[in-house]
Amino acid sequence: MQTIDVNLPHDTYAIHIARGLLDRLGEITREATPHDRAMLVMDSNVAEPHGVIAARALESAGYAVVTRELVALESRKTLSTVQGMYEAMLAAKLDRTGPVIALGGGVVGDIAGFAAATYLRGVPVIQAPTTLLAMVDASVGGKTGVNFPLPADDAGRSELGKNLIGAFWQPRAVAIDPQVLVTLDQRGFRCGLAETVKHGVLADVSLLDFIAEHAAAIAALDMDVLEELIVRSVRIKAAIVEEDERETGRRALLNLGHTFAHVLEPIEALDLRHGEAVSIGMCAAAHCAVETNRMTSEEAGRLRGLLRRLGLPTGLPREVDAEALIDTMGYDKKVAGGKLRLILPRGLGAAEIVDDLDRSTLEAAWAAVEPGTSGGGG
Ligand code: GLY
Repeated sequence: MQTIDVNLPHDTYAIHIARGLLDRLGEITREATPHDRAMLVMDSNVAEPHGVIAARALESAGYAVVTRELVALESRKTLSTVQGMYEAMLAAKLDRTGPVIALGGGVVGDIAGFAAATYLRGVPVIQAPTTLLAMVDASVGGKTGVNFPLPADDAGRSELGKNLIGAFWQPRAVAIDPQVLVTLDQRGFRCGLAETVKHGVLADVSLLDFIAEHAAAIAALDMDVLEELIVRSVRIKAAIVEEDERETGRRALLNLGHTFAHVLEPIEALDLRHGEAVSIGMCAAAHCAVETNRMTSEEAGRLRGLLRRLGLPTGLPREVDAEALIDTMGYDKKVAGGKLRLILPRGLGAAEIVDDLDRSTLEAAWAAVEPGTSGGGG
């Protein structure tokens, strides 16, 4: 088992990574928070077999386990789902010391984490991610929350704004079992790979080399390689969170590609999942970096090549209204003092926060990922 400690000013917790770790979830939970009653919150898609294994492991460690299944859709990541959780927690007589264990992807981790952060002013949460994306990103760092309707437009229509209501609530422990990835769908798996590439781009070019060298083994779910990939990726995220838990500075770098991605994800006709949108967003950000002399076009090409090799899109599947998207980017939380804040790579292996991009650079970046361009169509 590999363990990465996250050392924060008021808190330290361990991220454990090992094959078969789900069988030891009870032990890990007990080490982190020794009580007798636990709530296991799981994505209904992983109830069999992972939920059964997790419940058995918790029971063997002496917990009375109450389970709750959630439908893991962004559209269900709302306050009313959290209210349902509070009701279940009260009915289960979960007290202030009883842990919540989140078994699932980012949606489940965010909802269960937020409910744990706010129920009785906060109960312990253990994150047990079952998607690669949640393993290398969402389960680490304590961001929890739900989506919330944006103000209605003139026609009275309102969309859900992503993660607008939430709290920083660090887990007591994170238990990552790469073995569970064998049941993850290929598309979901590739989405997680996009976040590992993001970590390499912003902090460690040797991680990009590792991914390129082992692309075939990764696709074949070689467990040794996957474990190494997760460890290296989580180390990068944990180090950034240690430096800047509340995202007052460096943690914002983890949003590389996300300001573009967040405006693409709600467009139903594009049918993009988060990691796919981040992949395209990173290509758009790389284009901005080339235009502003932060990156060479060879480096941007290498990034696109790697994403393609992993089966990720580097351009839009169909045309979009770039001007409208640039306006919508203003709704994103990463708008500082009225200026659009973007994260741009600086070469490969470093990134920076940029506040002064011209609109024309953004227009060029969207054009660079349009269908039919070198980035687009894939
Ligand atoms: N996913 C970005 C962060 O945790 O800060």
